[in-house]
This record gives sequence, structure tokens and C-alpha cells, in this order.
Amino acid sequence: MNPAANVEGKRVLITGGASGIGAELALLLASRGAKVMIADLSAENMAKTIEQGNTDKISSCQVDVADADSVRALFKEAMKGLGGLDVVVNNAGIDHAPAPMHEVSDDDFDRNIAVNLKGVWHCMRAAIACMAPAGGGHVINVASVAGLRSSPMISAYSAAKHGVVGLTKSAAVEYARANIRFNAVCPSFIDTPMVQNTMAQLDERAQHALIKANPMKRLGKPEEVAGAMAWLCSDESSFMTGQTMVLDGGMLA
Ligand SMILES: NC(=O)c1ccc[n+]([C@@H]2O[C@H](COP(=O)([O-])OP(=O)(O)OC[C@H]3O[C@@H](n4cnc5c(N)ncnc54)[C@H](O)[C@@H]3O)[C@@H](O)[C@H]2O)c1
Repeated sequence: MNPAANVEGKRVLITGGASGIGAELALLLASRGAKVMIADLSAENMAKTIEQGNTDKISSCQVDVADADSVRALFKEAMKGLGGLDVVVNNAGIDHAPAPMHEVSDDDFDRNIAVNLKGVWHCMRAAIACMAPAGGGHVINVASVAGLRSSPMISAYSAAKHGVVGLTKSAAVEYARANIRFNAVCPSFIDTPMVQNTMAQLDERAQHALIKANPMKRLGKPEEVAGAMAWLCSDESSFMTGQTMVLDGGMLA
């Protein structure tokens, strides 16, 4: 018996699938027989991810999740390319330069809300429109521990991620009878290009503090998040909706 969560034949759309957590999840699901479409701003990085997987199970479509028209076009393409949608993973995201709240620029604040919150809302709305007539589905939103607790120096990011948790819970209740589930994944610091970029802006002491911010005293690995998310993508999670799955090395314990 294969002990891994069964995702064989699942049709999965992953935004932000060209890098970090999204790319790792795409590769893992494809290796277990899912049919995956990755959607990202970066066509170049999507091509690299597909090349890395060396599989015809992953296709791609360029999107800007902050743009409602672009998201509409993506879901049309996904329905055509995948033949339906069992799971949508809203993972595309950005952060901003660490700064005290009064120094966060309007541009940083607006862009974090546009991508991290409104982008998720665009994709949730499109996913519901596809899944409801088909009899159901599962939407997995990638939030953060920053969506559950204080996050000094990244207040705009934290505000957007708290919003994602709110959207997830409300939608779970609104669409439970339509058989559409909504859950959020809340990682702490994971070793991806996003965090590597943040680290590069910090002095050595702050870098050390970030790495040791949880009781395990290390960064999480993208594959540790992808493994848990693969279970969420499977039918084994079928009674779970409106929840936040925290992957944080014990930070919130
Ligand atoms: N890495 C962490 O420590 C961490 C912790 C908690 C939550 N998260 C969340 O996990 C998700 C993935 O982050 P990651 O660490 O893998 O980052 P990453 O930077 O490696 O990947 C993010 C991907 O999103 C894409 N993207 C950004 N803006 C987009 C847009 N407008 N439209 C489409 N694609 C867009 C980027 O091109 C990139 O490929 C994000 O939502 C992030 O906030 C990350």
C-alpha cells in the first residue's frame, strides 16, 4: 500500500507555482499522479519548474492575480486545460521590506493588499464559479502565521494575511452546502526565495533571530509545507473546512 496521501488524477491549479512552496507542491503532486497547472507572473520560472519535474503532468499559464481580468482568463484556461478543477491553491504572494508601520510606504501597503488579499479573493470567486456547478471542490489559501498573530515590521503583509484567514473562514461556512471546502495553510519562515530575499536585507543578528524564531531553531523547508498540503489536496482531508493548518516548528505553541 502506498502510505502517501492519494492525489492521483486530481486536477489542481496552483498560483505562484513558479517558485518556493508553490513549485515544490506542483512537483510533489505531479509525481503522485495529479494533473497540475501552475500560474504565475514569471513565465521563465514556470518553464524552469516544469523542466525540473520532467513531466507532462504540469502545464502553465501566466497570470497576475491582482488583475481581475487576468484571473478570469486563467480560470477559463484551467477549466479547458485540466478539464475541471478539484483543488485550487491560492499561493501567489509577495512581502515588503521590513519597516516599522509608520515607515511602510503607500505603494508597499497597496501592493500587499492587491496581491496577497485581493488576489486571493479574485481567485476564490473564480474557483467558486467553476466548482459550484460541478458539485464541489477544495480551495486552499496560503496565509501565514503572520495572519494569526502580531508580525512586527511586516504590518501590511500581516494585515493582508489576516484578511486571507477571514475570507477562508467565511467562505467555508457560506459554501459548505455546495460541497466546496476552504482551508488556509499558515507557515512560519520557510527557506524559499521570498525569505532568502528578506534575509539579505537584514544584519547578521536579525538573520540569526529570524532563523531561530521557533522552538526547532531552524527555517522550515518547502517540501515540509508541500507534504502537508498534499494531504490537504487529497480526499483524506474531506471533513476539514474553515481551518488554519499551522506549519511553524512550534512557534505558536
Ligand atoms: N516563505 C515563507 O517563509 C512563507 C511563510 C508564510 C507564508 N508564505 C506564503 O507562501 C506563499 C508562497 O511564498 P514563497 O515563500 O514560496 O515565495 P516565492 O517568492 O518563492 O514564490 C511566490 C511566487 O508568487 C509569484 N507571484 C507574486 N506576485 C504574483 C502575482 N501578482 N500574480 C501571480 N504570481 C505572483 C512569484 O512570481 C513567485 O513565483 C506566499 O503567499 C507567501 O506569503 C511564505
